[in-house]
Amino acid sequence: MDKTLERVALVTGANKGIGLAVAEGLLRLRITVFLGARDLSRGTTATKALVAQGLDARTVQLDVTDQTSIEAAADLITRDAGKLDILVNNAGIVVSHASPSETSVDELRRSYETNVFGVVAVTNAVLPLLRRSSAARIVNLTSDLGSLTLAATTENFPPLLAYNSSKTALNAVTVAYANELRPEGILVNAVSPGSVATDQNGHTGLLTTEQGARLPIRMATLPAGGPTGTAVAAGEDLSHHPLVW
Ligand SMILES: NC(=O)c1ccc[n+]([C@@H]2O[C@H](COP(=O)([O-])OP(=O)(O)OC[C@H]3O[C@@H](n4cnc5c(N)ncnc54)[C@H](OP(=O)(O)O)[C@@H]3O)[C@@H](O)[C@H]2O)c1
Repeated sequence: MDKTLERVALVTGANKGIGLAVAEGLLRLRITVFLGARDLSRGTTATKALVAQGLDARTVQLDVTDQTSIEAAADLITRDAGKLDILVNNAGIVVSHASPSETSVDELRRSYETNVFGVVAVTNAVLPLLRRSSAARIVNLTSDLGSLTLAATTENFPPLLAYNSSKTALNAVTVAYANELRPEGILVNAVSPGSVATDQNGHTGLLTTEQGARLPIRMATLPAGGPTGTAVAAGEDLSHHPLVW
């Protein structure tokens, strides 16, 4: 174990998009970051570019739908760092843009495997490491599309059943963990990063990945006594506001 490490973070799905920008932002705060990547070579490529800038970036193979991969990743972080201060559950997918009546159960299942069950599996696997931190933080990447209030009150709300409901479920997961871990001082929050130009939306988003990473980074580095069990959303002007459930 490298006992000199001060703060250590794991970001899932960190080889590109918002996850990569969150990893880079945390690294620039002098935090050691394990970049989780389901494809090791894509992860290594991303990590090398950060290491070349003098940052303490490390790759860990991590497919959030694969329990063997998750356990191996937790083992690697245990060996290399001995603890974890920050977990950013960023990996997420849009399997289908179909409306409810056109969504197959298989599409729904695949969405949940990554966006919901993957978060639970990774969180549980690294919780012993987070418990070794004096100020552990968990950030779950949600979406405005997971808000039931917005869905019920917004005209022409995008009707993607699989993605939207998976993020609604993720919000429930976030509150459940926040409630359980509150007595231990572990802060657990959901962040909607705003509309960010990434592969997920064919780069139609309005914000850059660096801009989209700001709020997740802020919630990953909350001071003691900060909020827990909340959801916050980034606006297009880079302001942020509470996200209604
Ligand atoms: N972009 C937006 O406007 C927006 C808005 C609201 C919320 N979000 C949320 O923000 C998060 C990041 O999205 P993004 O826009 O950056 O998407 P992205 O560019 O498509 O990146 C997604 C990342 O997740 C990884 N991933 C997918 N399935 C995985 C799995 N089973 N195990 C591990 N990693 C996996 C991808 O790896 P590969 O490269 O191997 O595919 C990639 O690194 C997601 O949770 C998304 O729902 C995004």
